[in-house]
Amino acid sequence: MTDPTAEPSPTQLLERERERFEAELADAVDEAAIYQVQVRFLGKKGSVTQLRKLMAKASPEERKQLGQAFNETKDAMESAMEARRKQLEDQVRELELSRRVDLSLCPSPRQPGSLHPITATRRRLERVFHRLGFDVFDGPHVEAEDYNFDKLNIEAGHPARDMQDTFFVLPPGAKRGDEPSNFVLRTHTSPVQVRTMLTHRPPIKMVAPGTVFRRDDDPTHSPMFNQIEGLYVDRGVTMADLKATLYNFVSAFFGAGLQVRFRPSYFPFVEPGAEFDVQCPFCREAGQGTQISRGCSVCKQTGWIELGGAGMVHPAVFEHCGIDPEIYTGWAFGFGIDRMAMLRYGVPDLKLFFNGDLRFLEQFPC
Ligand code: DAH
Repeated sequence: MTDPTAEPSPTQLLERERERFEAELADAVDEAAIYQVQVRFLGKKGSVTQLRKLMAKASPEERKQLGQAFNETKDAMESAMEARRKQLEDQVRELELSRRVDLSLCPSPRQPGSLHPITATRRRLERVFHRLGFDVFDGPHVEAEDYNFDKLNIEAGHPARDMQDTFFVLPPGAKRGDEPSNFVLRTHTSPVQVRTMLTHRPPIKMVAPGTVFRRDDDPTHSPMFNQIEGLYVDRGVTMADLKATLYNFVSAFFGAGLQVRFRPSYFPFVEPGAEFDVQCPFCREAGQGTQISRGCSVCKQTGWIELGGAGMVHPAVFEHCGIDPEIYTGWAFGFGIDRMAMLRYGVPDLKLFFNGDLRFLEQFPC
């Protein structure tokens, strides 16, 4: 039996130090902390080293035992520290190995872009006319003055030229002040009529959509805009074909049942000439009264929307293009594409289409 009031024996003291050592070592979380523990217990002034001095007081018999106990304790402590070091190293390595690099991070979402609403409208027009049997032709933006005006019966000095403020283009290498140029940025798509008739024999049935340019710039006009030209030339072509074709086009493009009308007008390259209107689809009365559009802000309270000009090809134009007006007749039309896109998408301001603002354009995913 041990006496609880008696002084603890060196072995007991050693045992206590060993327990403390184990607790402190378990709390040591890095090399520096383990070193501190080592100093505190086994350093020169360490507690275990100090206890060793007690051996001096022991009997030779006890001393041998104590010496053995000290050595064992010291060895055990050293290997415990070594094990702890290794354990910590392993933990660090494991942590490093288990660190996952997230390769799943996606790049920012793809933005595939979309067709400009004018392009989408132009393509739709091409499809509609193609289905009605029309070829789709193209013409250059820089056009000979002769094709843009003269051959269309708009000779120099004709007042109709004044209606189309024109961009004249200097040929490459020319300087300001040189001879006036014979080239213009085309003011309309009508010169494609000329190009087609000069290179094709009737029957001709074509549309030519594209960009045109005029020196116009105000809130409702842009110096660059888009038109679609139509031309049908054959024997016996009449105004009735024109009306029927345009009626079909309107049904396919704007929806069935809308009324169309011609209003007499003047264009030098057609005779007779007309403005072509379509019944306003926005204020059309529902049900029985589908023939009536009451008037709204889109049609400026008129119930009609003007799409452009049309008429029977003037005999002088045929002659300029080498087609015999005694044999052939034909009709032509020229409509604004931008206006149709505004109607289709409910866009109130023409300029929104052209200022390249992505916030506007992104509203038209295709
Ligand atoms: N080229 C004309 C313009 O831009 C529009 C036009 C009117 C075209 C009558 C035609 C037509 O083909 O027959 O004002």
